[in-house]
Amino acid sequence: MAISKKMLWGGSIAAHQCEGAYKTDGKGLGIMDVVTAGSASAPRIFHGEVEEGQVYPSHYGIDFYHRYKEDIALFAEAGFTALRISIDWARIYPNGDDAAPNQAGIEHYRDVIMELRRRDIEPIVTLFHFEMPLNLVKKYGSWANRETIQLYLRYCETMFTEFKDIVTYWSTFNEMNHLDADLLLSDFFTYMNTGLCYSKVENPAKVMAECAYNMTLASVKAINCGHRINPDFQIGCVFGITPSYAKTCNPDDSILAYKNMERDWYQIDAMCKGAFPEYKLNEYRKRGIETKISEEDKKEYADSKLDFIGVNYYASSVSSAQESDDDGENFFGASNNPYLRQSDWGWTIDPQGLRYLLMMLDRRYNIPMIITENGLGAFDQKEQDGSVHDQYRIDYLKNHLDELKKSINEDCVNCFGYLMWGPIDLISATTGEMKKRYGFIYVDQDDEGNGTLERSKKDSFYWFRDYTKNW
Ligand code: BG6
Repeated sequence: MAISKKMLWGGSIAAHQCEGAYKTDGKGLGIMDVVTAGSASAPRIFHGEVEEGQVYPSHYGIDFYHRYKEDIALFAEAGFTALRISIDWARIYPNGDDAAPNQAGIEHYRDVIMELRRRDIEPIVTLFHFEMPLNLVKKYGSWANRETIQLYLRYCETMFTEFKDIVTYWSTFNEMNHLDADLLLSDFFTYMNTGLCYSKVENPAKVMAECAYNMTLASVKAINCGHRINPDFQIGCVFGITPSYAKTCNPDDSILAYKNMERDWYQIDAMCKGAFPEYKLNEYRKRGIETKISEEDKKEYADSKLDFIGVNYYASSVSSAQESDDDGENFFGASNNPYLRQSDWGWTIDPQGLRYLLMMLDRRYNIPMIITENGLGAFDQKEQDGSVHDQYRIDYLKNHLDELKKSINEDCVNCFGYLMWGPIDLISATTGEMKKRYGFIYVDQDDEGNGTLERSKKDSFYWFRDYTKNW
């Protein structure tokens, strides 16, 4: 089956942020099940296990595990033709290395997928969205160990085989590009992908480079495995990219901006260009990190065919080679852009940055793309009558969609869909808060997990339905 010719419209959610039911039907503990709630000013804390008296938001989510039918009905009413979900690896192989998969976990996801199909919503399935059995970190040392690749492949093979006839679109990973030899942002960004904190491992640059390399190889092998099981599968990988502008016309700023972006390309290069890029191997070598690539692995890279790139876009950043910068730093550790506003959580709002990014990706890779995440985390006020007047969210989405339209119509970019992040309010990944809301659908729950969980439609719900109908 070829990539959809009709634009897909919908949203993206992730298991650990919405399902809850963290022990139900045989699920094992995942790395996000031991991360506490935090806030914009108080970082989330990683415990190696569940500690008494702490709040762990993944344990309750928004109870999507039990309410998925009601929520999918709302998505259908909002005009969705696609929904990106993630499968929690620990529901399928609770410890990651179990002898056999957990049938109850498989059946749960089959039910969710069939419910989407019943509503004419195309399921887009992410196989790893920061959801990894905790046991793989403790027993194997996470992705730094190549055995983890084999265990991941076995899990992927189980999913590809079980859902061969009901899922077409897959993504091997979500945002593994946040992992690199350098600590880019904070411990949290290495933790989400590996269950390991950069600041707490010995020789972090080496460990993180190994993890990033092994995940890249795992993705390539999973793409090849999926295509063998069903050649009609469309298998992509999702990257979270923050394009960087040079602060001034000083060439130092341009070189820094290029370097900051290069980190986001090398894994895509490895999946599309037939080999793991030599420039990255050289960078590793300069750090004293030797990467062993067997003949068999070389063949996997040569055979790899990434069917699409999933683009998560929230913000742009600014690269400044100057040591001190009057404009201050934003959430992503880069300089602020004085021409642009920021969200309440300090994320730069830049609709044109989406167009800039899509052009770069299209010219560099020339394969189909889909916007897999984009949206505004904001404080919402629910009125007495249940309404939420979120004009700020409508403005954000409309401005981005207007730029997407220009990308497609004027820049001839090949983009086959737009999935906004968090169509229903869910737990924030970076802060663990509930009050950082993205949804078209309001969920009655606070940061401690108290509330009725009742769902109600915001103004943006109706706006999205009408906007996409008239696109
Ligand atoms: C993306 C992640 O990077 O950002 C999502 O893929 C996440 O899981 C989203 O939720 C928004 O971030 P946050 O911290 O506002 O939830």
